[in-house]
Amino acid sequence: MALVTIPDQDERLTDPEAIAAYLKTCGIDYERWRLAHPVAIDAPAADILRAYSSEIDELKARGGYVTADVIDVNPETPGLEAMLSKFSREHWHDEDEVRFIISGHGLFHIHPKSTVVAIEVEAGDLIRVPRGTWHWFNLCADRHIRAIRLFQDMSGWTPLYTDSNVDQRYLPVCFGASHLQPNSDAAY
Ligand SMILES: [Fe+2]
Repeated sequence: MALVTIPDQDERLTDPEAIAAYLKTCGIDYERWRLAHPVAIDAPAADILRAYSSEIDELKARGGYVTADVIDVNPETPGLEAMLSKFSREHWHDEDEVRFIISGHGLFHIHPKSTVVAIEVEAGDLIRVPRGTWHWFNLCADRHIRAIRLFQDMSGWTPLYTDSNVDQRYLPVCFGASHLQPNSDAAY
């Protein structure tokens, strides 16, 4: 499950309901979904899209998304550092950033008001960062994330930078909610 920290207030949230309620106040949708269709870690994207087609259809209907794909990032991804550097600076999109995490980990920092919030996501987490929200993204130590993405219009996906450098004030470090909560359901 996700882990939310508010670095400037030294606060940490681990309960999914508390996380969803807090993120709602920031304009971020968060839900914990059960990974009902386990797929092999190296399954082709088409297999993942097929397995989760009913969930994808529900999200499309809910958010007006028209296409879905699978993003797969790992240490062997060609041009990994260049790709990551595009998204590790504070930016926004003219498109919602919707991610349903299938495996691996990722760290979103969002900056919706005056407070920066770190959201660590892992398998089973669904997050929607609405268009226009200032944010940035880093991988965690496993350098791996696989997620279903949904789009209203892929041309809106270009990152638009704030050039604030606020991202440099926050360590891109993941703590791992699963490790803090040994009884969690994260080990599907
Ligand atoms: Fe982004």
